[in-house]
Amino acid sequence: MKTSQPNMEDNALHSFFIEQLQDIYWAEKYLVKNLKKMVKEATSDELKTAFEDHMKETENQVTRLEQVFSSVGEKAKGKRCPAMEGLVNEAHELIENTEKGTMVRDAALIAAAQKIEHYEVASYGTLKTLAGVMSHSKAQKLLEQTLEEEKNADVSLTKIAEGFVNESALEEAL
Ligand SMILES: [Fe+2]
Ligand SMILES: [Fe+2]
Repeated sequence: MKTSQPNMEDNALHSFFIEQLQDIYWAEKYLVKNLKKMVKEATSDELKTAFEDHMKETENQVTRLEQVFSSVGEKAKGKRCPAMEGLVNEAHELIENTEKGTMVRDAALIAAAQKIEHYEVASYGTLKTLAGVMSHSKAQKLLEQTLEEEKNADVSLTKIAEGFVNESALEEAL
């Protein structure tokens, strides 16, 4: 176990950690709103259900982030995340560029959603590691839980794509 670092360094890393928390807090809240549209626009019941389930999970992740903030003595606050905004814009673009009620639409929505999940996996991976380095063990545990949910969401989407969506989309194109 390392001894604690000088205060100034601690504070700089702490500030970075909090900033990253604010980024993902904003991103998750933004996603809750936008996943509703993705549920509506999906073709298959399987994908609608997957999006719905992950929307509920995402609401819970927002609450969990509030617990992370309070566990390190900070107030939960969001900071606009241009990356998530861009990923969501891309999802909207894909919706516009694919026909409603088709499997190509689902293939496109899965692609967009997986990019979002990967962004989240990267964010929570960093946050979890930083929490560990700063010995914020409660925060680390909470962040680890969300990290696992994001990884699982990604795996579920791959299963839906490879299970039937891609094949059906291919047939549609013929
Ligand atoms: Fe999330
Ligand atoms: Fe997610």
